[in-house]
Amino acid sequence: MDACRNPDPPALRVLVLGGGGFIGRHAVAALLTEGFAVEVGSRHPGRLDRRLPGEARRCLRRRVHFEDLLSAEAWQPVLDGIDVVMNCVGILRPRGRETYQRVHHLAPAALAEACRRSGKRLVHVSALGLQAPMRSGFLRSKADGEAALRRSGANCCIVRPSLLDAEAGGYGAAWIRRVARWPVHAVPADATGRIAALDVRDLGVALAVLARRPRLGGDEGPGEYELGGETALALGDYLAAMRRQLIGGSALRIPVPGLLARIASHACDLLHLTPFSFGHWELLRRDNLPSRNALPELLGRAPRPVVPPPGHEPYQPPRAVPADA
Ligand SMILES: NC(=O)c1ccc[n+]([C@@H]2O[C@H](COP(=O)([O-])OP(=O)(O)OC[C@H]3O[C@@H](n4cnc5c(N)ncnc54)[C@H](OP(=O)(O)O)[C@@H]3O)[C@@H](O)[C@H]2O)c1
Repeated sequence: MDACRNPDPPALRVLVLGGGGFIGRHAVAALLTEGFAVEVGSRHPGRLDRRLPGEARRCLRRRVHFEDLLSAEAWQPVLDGIDVVMNCVGILRPRGRETYQRVHHLAPAALAEACRRSGKRLVHVSALGLQAPMRSGFLRSKADGEAALRRSGANCCIVRPSLLDAEAGGYGAAWIRRVARWPVHAVPADATGRIAALDVRDLGVALAVLARRPRLGGDEGPGEYELGGETALALGDYLAAMRRQLIGGSALRIPVPGLLARIASHACDLLHLTPFSFGHWELLRRDNLPSRNALPELLGRAPRPVVPPPGHEPYQPPRAVPADA
């Protein structure tokens, strides 16, 4: 009997670039649960043990410095033996040779070309809100990276999550939870754009679902997946809802004039303080909601609630952005 049985096909091998990061860790965990063979790309493979959860510590590791991987030829040995590449790499602030352009644009462009040449699939994690005109080098480099993927002809998709939340971990998520607990919330007065925060575990599951798909794009280019939770709130309301959930009660909200918030965002960038950056200040001024939320379809269920569920603030599609915004 056994001799007649078809052997199980070998597990697809996925390389998660930035697999020790906030999104990457959850992608790795979800991929392992789904039976993929997973490898983790990192600048410091030897330091991953304290960042990776349980079983993920046994994953093979590859040393990857995006700032040095600026051609398809340079990527070729890194991708050896890999079926699917998942790019979860990002930097909040540039450091030395790790510039926004190298990390968010030129390396992903070269990676897409390497994937096209070798027929590998590429899942690229980006962000919402890159279509509108913007000044931040952080956002522009991410938009340039997306544009390069669209031109590449690779079998790839772009995933754009809204703000991510988690009980633990994540530089931005941990900060938001900390600030939400404070009795006073200083909120930029012009942070009127709504966000649809989602649970990072749901993003991990959605990425694992995409990794299984043989075709990630169509004839017109990469597949594009915008993902969010089911509650759409502006920053001040999000902080208030998060506080109600974490410790109950309400905080005193103090609006910070737009110009002051903008100056503070530049100061944070200059001094590498907090996750608040000029790019985030720009993003917070307009809606950052998925135009069509692909998360429920990818999960096959409703997203996990992040803050008190709808009924209070039902999800609404994005408002049109004024031309002069
Ligand atoms: N967090 C959110 O709410 C959110 C929402 C939407 C979109 N995003 C986007 O998702 C991406 C990842 O976000 P995250 O929150 O997971 O960030 P993160 O926790 O800081 O992880 C980023 C990972 O990138 C890797 N990395 C950084 N510079 C690198 C370089 N020069 N070469 C190779 N690897 C490098 C780091 O890996 P090693 O340290 O191991 O080398 C790190 O693990 C970013 O592009 C971000 O803009 C995040």
